[in-house]
Amino acid sequence: MVKKLTSKKVATIVFFAALAVCAWGLMYLKHLEEIAPSKIFQSALRPSEIEPTYKKYIEPIVTKKCGACHTATSERPFFYYIPLLSSWSKSYVDAEIDEARGKFDLEKGLAVERLGSTMERILSLRGVMQDKSMPPTAYHSLRPYQKVNEEERKTIVAWANQALASLNEETFKGVAVDPSQEELTIEQFGEQLSLALASASPLAGKGDAIAHKKAMQKIGENEFLKTRMNSPFLWGGQNKDKNYDTKDQHLNRFNPLVWRKFYLSLFMFDGDYEIFPVEETVAYVFPVKFRSELADGLYPYPFWHSPDKWRKYNEARTLIFLAKNNKIVVAMRSAAKQDLIPKYAQRKWNGKFRWFDAGDYQPVVNNYASLFSPDNPHTEELDRVYRSLALGFRAENCTLCHTPANSSDMKMLEFLSSPAHTLAAKDRLPIILRDNVMPPVSGVNNHNSKTTLVELADEFQLKANMALAFEREILSDSMARPLVVNKSDFEAN
Ligand code: HEC
Ligand code: HEC
Repeated sequence: MVKKLTSKKVATIVFFAALAVCAWGLMYLKHLEEIAPSKIFQSALRPSEIEPTYKKYIEPIVTKKCGACHTATSERPFFYYIPLLSSWSKSYVDAEIDEARGKFDLEKGLAVERLGSTMERILSLRGVMQDKSMPPTAYHSLRPYQKVNEEERKTIVAWANQALASLNEETFKGVAVDPSQEELTIEQFGEQLSLALASASPLAGKGDAIAHKKAMQKIGENEFLKTRMNSPFLWGGQNKDKNYDTKDQHLNRFNPLVWRKFYLSLFMFDGDYEIFPVEETVAYVFPVKFRSELADGLYPYPFWHSPDKWRKYNEARTLIFLAKNNKIVVAMRSAAKQDLIPKYAQRKWNGKFRWFDAGDYQPVVNNYASLFSPDNPHTEELDRVYRSLALGFRAENCTLCHTPANSSDMKMLEFLSSPAHTLAAKDRLPIILRDNVMPPVSGVNNHNSKTTLVELADEFQLKANMALAFEREILSDSMARPLVVNKSDFEAN
């Protein structure tokens, strides 16, 4: 039997509904009131201005709107404390905070002691502001005053863009052009690059292993490439056709020799190219063919088993080289596709693609023996040190995040999961381990493990430098320094 609603009941329901709407409305008004001072950043920030402007304009917003999950705050939502419910809510909330801080920790601000970290953090912050994915909807829909409003969002994105423009400038000027090196015009640079690529990796069959081997060797030895690349070298897929702006891309960090021998050698060139000057950067765009039929072990990591990645490698129409100050700083697979999409087969994942796996499936191109010349006297010693270091990485879970799967969504990811890839971090590993900032939040907890890892990282850097010096490769790393190096740069402001 359905009971009729009495007018008293209706009044009660209306009353509570009205109360809820009012409460929400009040919270919304509070949110409007609390809009932080907005400022639209229109001109490039000097490196020394980045941290002060962050503290003044950005930190107040993110502390308030993101602090519940991305800081060490002891505040917890009310349901954390409700008896019975808390048996579920405690572990849920704590796990959410752990995950959030592992990916993005606001506790240490911009980490200006390490330029690489500063760039990474600003890229992450800008990313979630652009796609409006943070704070999570479930969180701000109950608390409208915790939503980032348009004003704040614009302020953060504008600030991040100006800061990143300046940081790119810093890293790319970091490795100084060798003063004895010939100054080339844009056209001369393009010609020499084209000659280097077409002579070292000319068109051949997609599965021609001998042609690939030759290309690896020639690309490794090529004098122009050896002396005209920045380190760390950045590589990834272009985000959008015709966009050559470095700060819009998702790029990974590589040692230049590793990238050349193991990635660049997978593409074949016919010498054709186009030049697009983009402000102070120049884009050199080369049509390519991809070597899609080599043995599994000749790809530096098994990207062939990810349908999306494999497709992008096969379909990219061109490789784009971005050069600044007569140095190539970035390379990208174009978003533009081949006119005729080539046929290619997906491959099966057999789970055996680790550098220590024996047998046919081993990624041979990840080992120092295939990276360095046969007569390099430091190869074996470096390999020995890497193996000890890798055991330490595994014990401390470093390879949970620093692998191609990129479980923590890094914007400039660094692989620590194979011998060759780890060379990119040789100069920054000793720094982050000494400062004990990785893994994020906790660092390495055990004192003895930390000391051992620091010693191994120092030894790794030393041996890596000896091996690379033997190959006459670039040794310096333009990100292995604090954001602001020069004290007078600070005082001028
Ligand atoms: C209610 C908790 C919560 C709040 C509040 C929150 N986050 Fe997150 N955040 C998370 C969780 C959980 C993850 C990891 C899961 C994921 O990536 O979606 C995350 C991931 C991230 C990441 C890394 C993922 C990526 O795509 O780069 C960034 C950056 C980030 N948050 C920034 C922010 C910012 C900025 C704010 C404030 C405007 C914020 N978050 C507010 C919980 C939160
Ligand atoms: C939970 C995921 C996670 C784990 C585990 C982790 N890292 Fe990281 N790592 C990150 C993130 C996120 C960044 C970028 C933000 C930053 O630099 O603070 C980063 C940055 C780095 C960088 C670059 C820093 C720079 O200055 O350019 C190095 C090197 C590094 N980590 C090494 C390590 C080592 C070594 C370990 C293990 C002891 C480790 N990481 C464990 C997530 C992780």
